[in-house]
Amino acid sequence: MEHELMNIKNNAVSLILDAKTIDELEEIRIQFLGRSGTLTQTMKEITRLPKQERPEIGKLANETKKIIEDALSQRIETLSQQKVSLRAKKLDVTEPGVRPPLGHLHLITQAIEEITTIFSNLGFTKVRYPEIEWDYYAFSAVNFPENHPARDDWETFFIRQEPHPKKGPVILTPHTTSGQVREMEKGILPIKMLNLSKCYRRQSDVSHTQMFHQFEGLVVGEGISITHLKGTLDYFVKSYFGPSRVSRIRPYHFQFTEPSFEVDVSCGVCNGTGTLKQVQGDKEVSVPCRLCKEGWLEMGGSGMVHPNVLKYGGIDPKKYTGFAFGWGVERVLMMKEGIEIDDLRLLYSNNLEFLEQF
Ligand code: PHE
Repeated sequence: MEHELMNIKNNAVSLILDAKTIDELEEIRIQFLGRSGTLTQTMKEITRLPKQERPEIGKLANETKKIIEDALSQRIETLSQQKVSLRAKKLDVTEPGVRPPLGHLHLITQAIEEITTIFSNLGFTKVRYPEIEWDYYAFSAVNFPENHPARDDWETFFIRQEPHPKKGPVILTPHTTSGQVREMEKGILPIKMLNLSKCYRRQSDVSHTQMFHQFEGLVVGEGISITHLKGTLDYFVKSYFGPSRVSRIRPYHFQFTEPSFEVDVSCGVCNGTGTLKQVQGDKEVSVPCRLCKEGWLEMGGSGMVHPNVLKYGGIDPKKYTGFAFGWGVERVLMMKEGIEIDDLRLLYSNNLEFLEQF
């Protein structure tokens, strides 16, 4: 019966939308809602259903009736308006048409395209690795000893599934670093990969969404050094944020890189000075920048690939070296816009008022 009601609704609505005259609509009304109309007949049959099914089907039938009635009255209104406006003015076929509303790509998609283009100019190849991943690639193979407390920093989602005998539990990948050893396993050197994909972590607040995007660069070859890393960072920063911006690296710690760095970008609001001039009364005073910490914005992690990671990927660390970096797409996007968005979750709320601004 549910199926029948759905068919009635679909047939009626498509006939109504195709109707060209008000007389036609009256015929459709009789066909479905008249005394011997299809819907009226079907509704009579409800009394023959088992008692426990009646309330639900009854509700569905009433909803179907309401939808058909609404569609009819809307179409009647549209047709009568068209009649009035055609009568009111002669149709001028040379008049310019009404432009249909034009949307744009979501701002995350725009950022992904821009980031990909910048790195492909440097010869990076874009790849994507599974979002549903084994513990092995996300942690063990990138040098996290088993039960190491640093694993907790990557607040991981676990999938309820039998662990793989060698690769361990199934998880949602918490970072794009899980693509490093997968890329090395392809056995092709040198490597210049850009792994851009969705990542998941158990955190949701104004500055975190449980799903977010990271992009990970990995370069492995002979004689790769920190200068290559720094040059790549600068190229990205200038291309993405603008020619006046610079990057700096600070010592940090990650399991999978040695040495490790945190990358900062000079702030675009205060031009890296950390202060802004403000007029107070008739005096000009310096106030701390509203966006950054002392002229710098934190972008994310990077470092020289740890020899153990190369070994896991079957690469001889005595012969080859590499660098890697991994940053959040949402984060660099917000930094570029120079805005501190009150709630990062807005990005995924499909709120047009927000999205139309970009
Ligand atoms: N995977 C790290 C994170 O999610 C970022 C990173 C990638 C750091 C590559 C160093 C090298 O925070």
